[in-house]
Order: sequence, then C-alpha cells, then structure tokens
Amino acid sequence: MKILDGKALAKEIKVELMEKVNQLSLAGKKVPHLAAVIVGNDGASRTYVGAKVRACEEIGFNSTLIQLPSDISEADLLEKVNQLNQDNDIDGFIVQLPLPQHIDEKKITLAIDPKKDVDGFHPENLGRMVLSLPGFLPATPAGILEILKRYDIPTEGKHCVVVGRSHIVGSPMSIMMGRSSYPGNSTVTLTHSRTENLKEITQQADILITAIGRPGYLKADMVKEGAVVIDVGITRIDAPETKSGYRLKGDIDFEDVAPKCSFITPVPGGVGPMTIVSLMQNTLRAIELKAN
Ligand code: GUN
Repeated sequence: MKILDGKALAKEIKVELMEKVNQLSLAGKKVPHLAAVIVGNDGASRTYVGAKVRACEEIGFNSTLIQLPSDISEADLLEKVNQLNQDNDIDGFIVQLPLPQHIDEKKITLAIDPKKDVDGFHPENLGRMVLSLPGFLPATPAGILEILKRYDIPTEGKHCVVVGRSHIVGSPMSIMMGRSSYPGNSTVTLTHSRTENLKEITQQADILITAIGRPGYLKADMVKEGAVVIDVGITRIDAPETKSGYRLKGDIDFEDVAPKCSFITPVPGGVGPMTIVSLMQNTLRAIELKAN
C-alpha cells in the first residue's frame, strides 16, 4: 500500500507555479490576481478561503479577500459579482459555497463571468469540460486527476466508481474519468444516495473516489483488494484534546481500508491541498486564456 501524498505534491506544484510567476514578473507581465468572496462566518468556509488566500501569497499571486455579512441581500451579492466581473485587475474569483439560505447559489454561479470562473462551476465551463474544450475544470476533480497523473496510475479501461453526485465533485469527476484522455478512459459508475446495493458496486472498483461527507462510512468489506482509493470527504469531528477542538475525517475508514489498497489518499493531506493548487493553476490559466 502506498500513500498518495497530496500535501507533498501540492508543495511541488506550488514551486512550479512560483517559477512561472517569477517568469511573468521578469518579463514585466501581470501577476495573477485571485479574489475570494466569503459570505457569513461559517468556520469551515473561513478555513478553506484562508488557505486559498495564503496559497496565493506563498506563490506570489495577488489576492483579495472580500468578507460580506451573512445578511447581505442576493441583489447586493450579485452587484459585488458584477463589480468583480468588470474589474480588469482581477483575473479570476470565487464565491465560497455554501451561501446562506436566502441566496440562490445557482443565480450567483450564473452571474460569474465564465472567463473569470476559476472554480469551473459556471455551466459554460462545465459544458466545455464535457466537450474537452479549453476552460476551467472544477478544482477538486482537477486536483484528483493531477494526483493520478503524477503517481502514474493507469486509468484506461479501469472501472472507476464515484460515490456522491455533487455538482462540485462527484458529477464532474465522473465525466472527467470517462473522457478520452489520460487520466480518463475509465469505465465509470456514478453512485449516490439512491443507489441500491452500493457495496456490490464499490467492491468492483479499480479506482474508488468518495465524496459524500459521511466520516468513516466506507469499510474494508466495500473495497476490492488492490484498489486505488481517493477520499474527498473532510468532515470536522469533535476532538476536545486538540487545539482547534476538532479533527478532519474522510469518508473512508482509513485504518480498516488502507491495508487492502494499492494506493490511498490520507485525510488530511490528500485531496484537500490539491484542490487549492488546482485553483491556483486555474488562476494562472485565466491570464493565459485571456492572452489568446
Ligand atoms: N465549497 C466547498 N468546496 C468549494 C470550492 O471548491 N469552491 C467554492 N467556491 N466553494 C466550495
């Protein structure tokens, strides 16, 4: 069993990005500028956005953090999105999800200029992904492809089972693994909360990707011997003994499942850091796409 060390990979990719930023600076060109909008005070969202802004600083990107109150109206948030669409200095921006109940996430996603949609959530970018046209790939599935690629994991003809059909991870992941490219060319099964006989299906997976947010849900008896297991779950579990008061747990029961796998991502330190560098890669691409 080999650990897929997302943290180490992310570090490696950050160095590559730093070199590219240096080249842009030396050539007198614009350095990428990412803006992140966060609405309200959700602890997990603040942590994720904080990590994204910190990654920008490390790499040498410019970043702007826009914190808005939880009672902001939908109209005012749409106005903010519009301002960011118009702002020539901002190359890409994200609106961290989830948003408060009174705001329609779909409306906000649709309002983002697809050329600045570095999260890859706009229907235009999702359509481009399906057609394998240039655009922005959603950060988490893109980070998972990068893990598979950099560890040279064969995917062609393999049975890839994705557990969870969210718009952010499961659905785009299933499409990306089925595309005619590497990593891809897999035979994909997308499972979800209404799937019958889930265990029988996950047992057939050569590559198992879980994104359901149910800590420790997948046990060894659900996994095939020698499978490649990618765990996207990051649920906060109370842990009074830690400084933060919580720890992160994935969808996979790691101790139980790991001995059976050929490769497995840990939580934390697996997919999470790769999501952040994918967003950085997309932000750099925003400049490149603009130039073409
Ligand atoms: N919430 C959870 N993951 C993400 C993400 O990748 N982007 C945004 N904007 N919100 C999220």
